Amino acid sequence: MGNKTAGGRRPLAVVTGASSGIGLELARECVDGGFDLVVASDDGEIDAAAGFFRERGADVTAITADLSTADGVEALISAIDGRPVDALLANAGRALGKAFLDQDFDRVRGLVDTNVTGTLHLIHRVGQGMRSRRSGRILITGSIGGYVPGPFDAVYDATKAFLNNFSFALRHELKDENVTVTVLMPGPTETAIFERGDLGDTKAGVMKKDDAAEVAATGFKAMMAGDGDVASGLKAKLISAAANVVPSSVLAAAHAKGAKPWSGR
Ligand SMILES: NC(=O)c1ccc[n+]([C@@H]2O[C@H](COP(=O)([O-])OP(=O)(O)OC[C@H]3O[C@@H](n4cnc5c(N)ncnc54)[C@H](OP(=O)(O)O)[C@@H]3O)[C@@H](O)[C@H]2O)c1
Repeated sequence: MGNKTAGGRRPLAVVTGASSGIGLELARECVDGGFDLVVASDDGEIDAAAGFFRERGADVTAITADLSTADGVEALISAIDGRPVDALLANAGRALGKAFLDQDFDRVRGLVDTNVTGTLHLIHRVGQGMRSRRSGRILITGSIGGYVPGPFDAVYDATKAFLNNFSFALRHELKDENVTVTVLMPGPTETAIFERGDLGDTKAGVMKKDDAAEVAATGFKAMMAGDGDVASGLKAKLISAAANVVPSSVLAAAHAKGAKPWSGR
């Protein structure tokens, strides 16, 4: 991309969850690809990330907003300030380990509200502008976990199944509107999400994982190419192939081995 828009500015990318992990790297890809940024995350760390993006040459607006809430999504829409969004990278997400019945339900609700409701709300708000301008790219960070029933992070994998599925449907609805929808399906990737989601005490938490910068580069490239989906990394490609042929009960048992806490259930 890199070209200035008709108004003489760089195109604009909105990236959620840009303070760390895959989102930080997606935002860096956007800056290096010629975009200005509006970035959001749930805490003040986003300001440090914004400084890093500015040093690389982008005009950056950073906002702290809890995107699991309608107010948080509307605060992000206000921060965009009516500027046309050329690319929306809906990436913010949380995980949550342990057996479902042992999880704190407020955290379960926060997970669903972040990964599903907040993501849908933001895409609904920004997507309408893209459709009316007949121009835009949407990248949703789903997960390869969305293809697999996920004992011991069951709700997380179910939210990602929702996003993977939704992404293909929205892509179809927008196919004649010059708006592309791409779902990035990372495999296990080295980020803070495992510790934050109580998954540190598991095989999946400590195993060697993919590099977040490489995952983001794969996702950004797919978004720019307008591809429907991309599974990043060998593990993700193998899981997506297996998911089509292996019974769900077998997939669930395999997943449980990686996600069951060593300390118990
Ligand atoms: N790492 C993996 O193995 C993996 C695999 C497949 C898919 N993914 C997906 O990749 C995405 C990024 O995760 P990550 O692995 O990079 O984890 P991460 O380092 O923990 O980053 C998550 C980002 O989302 C933000 N976020 C979380 N809840 C939010 C909320 N309610 N409102 C606003 N921002 C919120 C976080 O902001 P704060 O720091 O301010 O909370 C942070 O910037 C997620 O959608 C995740 O499901 C990750």
